[in-house]
Amino acid sequence: MKGFLCMALLLFHVQPASAQQLRLLAINAANSEVDWPLVESFAKKSWSVQELKLDRFGPLMRNFSFQAALDDSEELLQKALTEKFDALIASSKGVNVVTSLIQRHLWDGPLVLLSPIPNACDHIRGGGWEEEWRSTMEVLMNVGPVAIGTGTSQDEALFVVDGIAETELCGKLIKGGSTHRFEKCPGWILRSFQGDHGWKSDWTNAPHIARLIDSLFHVALAPANAQAPSSEL
Ligand SMILES: *[C@@H]1O[C@H](CO)[C@@H](O)[C@H](O)[C@H]1NC(C)=O
Repeated sequence: MKGFLCMALLLFHVQPASAQQLRLLAINAANSEVDWPLVESFAKKSWSVQELKLDRFGPLMRNFSFQAALDDSEELLQKALTEKFDALIASSKGVNVVTSLIQRHLWDGPLVLLSPIPNACDHIRGGGWEEEWRSTMEVLMNVGPVAIGTGTSQDEALFVVDGIAETELCGKLIKGGSTHRFEKCPGWILRSFQGDHGWKSDWTNAPHIARLIDSLFHVALAPANAQAPSSEL
């Protein structure tokens, strides 16, 4: 029995930490392409990205509504999430695909949001930009950590960074060197990268997306690190 225990401990001990690969699911809801294998090649921690392309999302959204596209993708998303993932990635209007998953109790973990843009639908109040952001933030506040990437353009600052900050739900944006944090949401980080809304599809930003994912897991796996200086992220 003792020998067995020692062996079990030994096996446990020699198992390299890197053997446990973290998995992310990138939901592509009519978003421009991101070269995920390229992004993965810059990973410092051990993680991989699987992409779920919702091919009908764009046409349904254009022909009918965001909600119609969301309803249509429900089954595919539910099926994808029967596998275990450590984080979800959503871009642009994909943020409200993620909030729908949170509302349906299909997700409550870490998120990477690349230039999130809210869209009114059944679970997100319409009536203007501010209300859409507020409604989106009310759902996002229930999960985390959240790593947000945006472009450096004025539109990105206005539609994403200000949109989040003006809800005041996460308090003031605390500007750091490259990593901004939120006064009331310690598990949230925000970084801006060269470009407009299309920054995430620019291959030169692939290492930046990788660093954002590394930082997300840094915060997710060690909550005590949430307040670490940005230089350590
Ligand atoms: C959307 O509308 C176009 C043009 O009418 C049509 O060709 C296409 O099949 C429609 N797609 C869906 C998913 O409704």
